[in-house]
Amino acid sequence: ADSTVYRASTTAPVNIAVIKYWGKRDPKLNLPTNSSLSVTLAQSDLRTHTTAACSTLFPAGQDTLLLNGAAQDVSGARTQACFRELRALREALEAQDPQLPKLAQQPLRIVSENNFPTAAGLASSAAGFAALVRAIADLYQLPATPTELSRIARQGSGSACRSLFGGYVAWEKGTAADGSDSLAYEVAPASHWPDMRALILVVSAAKKGVSSTTGMQATVATSSLFAARANDTVPARMRDMASAIKAKDFAAFADLTMKDSNSFHACCLDTSPPIFYMNDVSRAAVRAVEAINAAAGKTVAAYTFDAGPNAVVYYAAEHEAAVAGAFKAVLAGTEGWSGARGEAVAADEKAA
Ligand code: PMV
Repeated sequence: ADSTVYRASTTAPVNIAVIKYWGKRDPKLNLPTNSSLSVTLAQSDLRTHTTAACSTLFPAGQDTLLLNGAAQDVSGARTQACFRELRALREALEAQDPQLPKLAQQPLRIVSENNFPTAAGLASSAAGFAALVRAIADLYQLPATPTELSRIARQGSGSACRSLFGGYVAWEKGTAADGSDSLAYEVAPASHWPDMRALILVVSAAKKGVSSTTGMQATVATSSLFAARANDTVPARMRDMASAIKAKDFAAFADLTMKDSNSFHACCLDTSPPIFYMNDVSRAAVRAVEAINAAAGKTVAAYTFDAGPNAVVYYAAEHEAAVAGAFKAVLAGTEGWSGARGEAVAADEKAA
């Protein structure tokens, strides 16, 4: 009998959307109501490292997942969908070539480590599911492109489909009921605009409020602003944002990024009952970015907020002193702020 332990390791980066995904048209398949676009953070900063292994030596019928040393429940529909899709692709390969080892039936053992605090409210599920899918795809030696794998990672967590690429990534919402065309594509590689930087400001005491799934469902069901956002605002911004990135037009990129974050949080406030992800500390960061841009006489920084109070501030490397320096000065005395890894706000959080 085959007693080999097969193994593959990979990393996937965190991505932060600049045009936000908010709303599901199919919660089971994680099909979105609008397309979205993100910037992937540098692997050296925030990433998940994952090793996938399989063997007939592992206890039969038991797939396991360890995250930062703690056993995770893999019985959830999202994780199961990823395992099922990847096994089906491996089974198809094994059916074509009977010489291949029969890996699809073997129990999976997944070990993941984040190099940032999982509880900090950063987009850990995006990097996590992207790394899980890529690691198993590599273990199974699937000849799948990142876009093909994005279809599977999307079923783990919507935003995870964008973490299969570095750089600037669009998730096209697609129209098919089975999700076959709801996929991620590279808009531009990181090397296209390498001096993009991201400063991540973590509200230390951040607790998970309303989960993104619960929040999205409530917004779709009750917000009267939502339809305009999904049908008109975001489609126009997707085009404008892709153009801004291609032209490396930071002012246009920043303007769209801030407007779209505010539009998303306005829809949250317009949800019944209202959802508050941003807090007073978040609003202090908005004002700090406004002050930085006013002092510079042009737009050199852009804020964006996900489903929590933490701020991500994008800026161009040439304005590092103005942006990161100002944040250090402004926020040093503001209770509640610290860097992405819990340290003092640092200027070296490179994106792309
Ligand atoms: O992928 P999810 O289900 O965790 O949703 C992510 C939602 C936002 O982070 C708020 C926006 C986005 O596009 O990432």
